[in-house]
Amino acid sequence: MLKVVRTRDYDDMSRKAANVISAQVILKPDSVLGLATGSTPLGIYRTLIGWYQKGDLDFAHVRSVNLDEYQGLPREHDQSYYYFMNENFFKHINIDPEQTHLPDGMNMDAEGECARYHQVVESMGGIDLQLLGIGNNGHIGFNEPAEDFAERVHCVELTESTIRANARFFASEADVPRYAYTMGIGEIMSAKRVLIVASGKAKAPILRDLIHGPVTPHVPASILKFHPDATLIADEDALSLV
Ligand code: PGA
Repeated sequence: MLKVVRTRDYDDMSRKAANVISAQVILKPDSVLGLATGSTPLGIYRTLIGWYQKGDLDFAHVRSVNLDEYQGLPREHDQSYYYFMNENFFKHINIDPEQTHLPDGMNMDAEGECARYHQVVESMGGIDLQLLGIGNNGHIGFNEPAEDFAERVHCVELTESTIRANARFFASEADVPRYAYTMGIGEIMSAKRVLIVASGKAKAPILRDLIHGPVTPHVPASILKFHPDATLIADEDALSLV
């Protein structure tokens, strides 16, 4: 069952999602958070930073694992997810940088990196709350539409649709990396709670397919309907076709 929370707009979505993460950290200060990049979570991170600065939140004992990372981008590249997480969240709060984890995009040994990152996720002893965005094509992390659900951390070739969607962040479409490391659907589904967020009219068709369509690897996010504790927080625009 996927619970759906409808919000007025992006800010309302961001605050409500931040409230869920905040409650998680207050109730369990040593929570393991599964974190996501993309434009949608930015307002959530900004809100959490604000609450941290007011003294309402403490991340000293939180550990984090991120969903994914481009292959071939160094950490200091401004489009690497390592850079994104530091700039938009980690450097503004008191999380221990040693306790934040992402796939190593510069490890070109795909098999080795996938095995290593799977171990990292396993060693957390379970993700308490996994935050997710959803791609226009239904991807979660970089689990692109496919014939099967991928179980574990793997290296994916990005679809043309994802490359086009992400080209806005690069000098040109040719600069968008073609491969990425991502947690698999199995690892995402193992999280105790899942929070998926979406905003804006561009997400309306995929949210319609997600909510009204079947569970299928062609819409990777649809598997969340089988998760025991998954919540979608989305604004009016994103839910306008539901
Ligand atoms: P977005 O990306 O938040 O930038 O829309 C979501 C995703 O691709 O997972």
